[in-house]
Amino acid sequence: MCELHIALLSLHFVAVQAMLGALLVCALWEARSRRAGNEALHDGARQLARWLPTLMTFLINLGVPPLLFAQVLFGTALYTSSTLIGAYWISVVVWLMVMYGLIYVGQFRAAAGRHWGGQALGALLVGLVIAAIYSTNMTLMLHPGTWPGMYRAGAHGTHFPFGGGLVWPRWAFMLSGGLVTGGLALVMLGAGGARRAALRTVMLREGGLLACAGLAAQLPLGWLILAGQRWEVRAALSASPLYHGAEVAWLALWAVALLAGLAAALAAPRAAARERGLPGLAWGAALLAVLLAAAFTTVRDGIRDGTLRASGFDVWSLPVTVNVGVLVIFLVLVVVALAVVGGLIALALRARPPEETSTP
Ligand code: HEM
Repeated sequence: MCELHIALLSLHFVAVQAMLGALLVCALWEARSRRAGNEALHDGARQLARWLPTLMTFLINLGVPPLLFAQVLFGTALYTSSTLIGAYWISVVVWLMVMYGLIYVGQFRAAAGRHWGGQALGALLVGLVIAAIYSTNMTLMLHPGTWPGMYRAGAHGTHFPFGGGLVWPRWAFMLSGGLVTGGLALVMLGAGGARRAALRTVMLREGGLLACAGLAAQLPLGWLILAGQRWEVRAALSASPLYHGAEVAWLALWAVALLAGLAAALAAPRAAARERGLPGLAWGAALLAVLLAAAFTTVRDGIRDGTLRASGFDVWSLPVTVNVGVLVIFLVLVVVALAVVGGLIALALRARPPEETSTP
């Protein structure tokens, strides 16, 4: 179950980061296109707006299985921390609806050819609040020692431990991942051959640079998070082939993604001039985003296992009774869902926006 949890949570993180990155890009592009009258940027923000409600659906649906797994595996810790910040935890539902609403309004405005930078910025800020609540809860659940003090400070779930433990580095790591995944997603779209050359050039150049900026921020943040762990946790990570392997894999993927980002940015005009695009780069960028997320999600899982074990809770010693029928149905549905997502990505790469079909 832990492996399935990591796999699906990685996909949730890809969707979260792609969403935050896309909203940032759209807000910036709309602001720049208003100031400088740059049509390619306005057009780019409009085209991205069409995909965001679908991406939001994936984001939410890919969050549900990890939430169920996390409750089964770490229920004692997660229920307690969720209750301690109950008012904020429940408020996520409201924030989500506000974010979804802003994205839909943005999509309608974009479809009507109007600017939607304000909606993109609003949705981004709401997303940052949701991420801060998640990071706080996922950190709080690891530190049972702080729970009695939290309960005494407020028994009604209204006390929010701003910045306790390593919350902000965790939050910032996840958000800078938004630059990485958002940047790689732009590279993916720019490397697909379906859009105008001017827009593909912008997507490749700015996507590549965005990914590099996010990667540059993630390295020190990742180090800060690891260095802030207790020595038992760091020792457990180093001793585990899975978790240590994931650390090494993340570093290797980090270097490959940095080179890919730089290459996309430098070769943007030449690559965009190719009629059929660069399918290898497009799929490579998508794969890199998924593998990077899988690697850091695995390390994150190792940190949680090690930290909870130090407090006397060993998730690997839970009794397991496999319900084979349910497991098979679940696996089949996961494979079908992933095939659909893969098909949609291929469609996004091939699809020529309707208004571009008549323009060479
Ligand atoms: C825009 C909305 C969302 C954002 C920005 C977001 C962001 C995040 C972030 C940043 C984390 C990692 C926190 C950390 O470890 O520091 C996280 C974890 C998680 N998210 Fe989301 N999330 C969103 C929506 C959802 C939804 C709707 C669900 C479920 C239905 C969900 C389920 C989860 C779960 C289960 C985890 C942690 C699982 C674990 O640690 O095992 N998320 N999310």
